[in-house]
Amino acid sequence: MTIAHTERTDDLSELLEAILRLSKVKAGERVCLLTTHVYDTRMTDAYRVALGRLGADAVHLVVPPRTSGTSWINPLQLDAYAQRILKDAEMVVYPRTLRQVADVSMYTPAYRDILFSGGVRWLDVMVDETAMRRLFPSAAMIDRTKRAATLVESAQEFHLTSDAGTDLRVRKRGRKAAMQVGVADEVGRWDNFGFGFVTCAPEEDQTEGVLVFDIGDSLGYFLGPYFNLLPEQVRVYWEKGRVVRIEGGAVAKSYARFLERLGKPEHYHIAHFGWGTQDKAVWGGPHFNVADWESYYGNVMIHWGHNIFDAPSRHSGLGGRNAPSADWPIPQHSGGVVLNHSLWMDGKQILDRGTIVPADLK
Ligand SMILES: [Fe+2]
Repeated sequence: MTIAHTERTDDLSELLEAILRLSKVKAGERVCLLTTHVYDTRMTDAYRVALGRLGADAVHLVVPPRTSGTSWINPLQLDAYAQRILKDAEMVVYPRTLRQVADVSMYTPAYRDILFSGGVRWLDVMVDETAMRRLFPSAAMIDRTKRAATLVESAQEFHLTSDAGTDLRVRKRGRKAAMQVGVADEVGRWDNFGFGFVTCAPEEDQTEGVLVFDIGDSLGYFLGPYFNLLPEQVRVYWEKGRVVRIEGGAVAKSYARFLERLGKPEHYHIAHFGWGTQDKAVWGGPHFNVADWESYYGNVMIHWGHNIFDAPSRHSGLGGRNAPSADWPIPQHSGGVVLNHSLWMDGKQILDRGTIVPADLK
């Protein structure tokens, strides 16, 4: 699954070729390179070279923007011609490059329509070249994440605690497990390059207790760039799967207002829950990015909001029931990542203060 040490990836196109080989892109395959209408040509040129070297039957699809009034909405809509092109692909590669316009949203019926079309797989590449190199998936990471996903698949309940005061129970009876390892190598699989974690969409009305974000944990983009870690505690209280109270200082008040401004009840319900398996991820500092945030080894990621994203392949997609109630604002969710937590899954200890416990999951 990894590249041999004798191979070289000096040129970006060679690195992208290695990434595409992991996802088994092969000669003659219909590959759709998807971008928004603002993109980095250095990156798309390198994909063109890589796909050409692999012999893929590739196209570059530039999806035009869509708006409602002056506001962005999801550029992919069910009625779009782009939708039909994507459904006819065997592989979609979606690099995010310049990030100046609205991205394609995954928590939408249009996204689901593509992934369930029967013959396509999809690789997101959200990270830059430096992070692609640093977070290139190792065989060990892929294997431990697969083993974790197999266990989470049949699990029913998580119990999360921390010295800072977290005491949270999360139920997932009958829900699938999902993993991200950066490899979309089978039909119906969606993945995200550089990421490494296991997760699931819990039952939307079955989370109870308190989740304490400690100093140095992260509430994600709410505070701006991901490397803005929390300067003070934020306590999030849950009843029947729903955030009912947010306590703390100025950050907690500001975050509560942020959720209120989203203005929809679905943003308060649990979306996904799991832990990070990517030992190459960093926490904080100048290179800290969204992949590090979600994948940091031994973290616990818990988000709330939309979770209908799904894919037909095993251990891919969430399959939750919290659907967006409008096409605007662009469907999203929020939440964060905590470190130094202890986690039990049906009584089996998975994490001890942020350290993975079972030998086969390390
Ligand atoms: Fe999320």
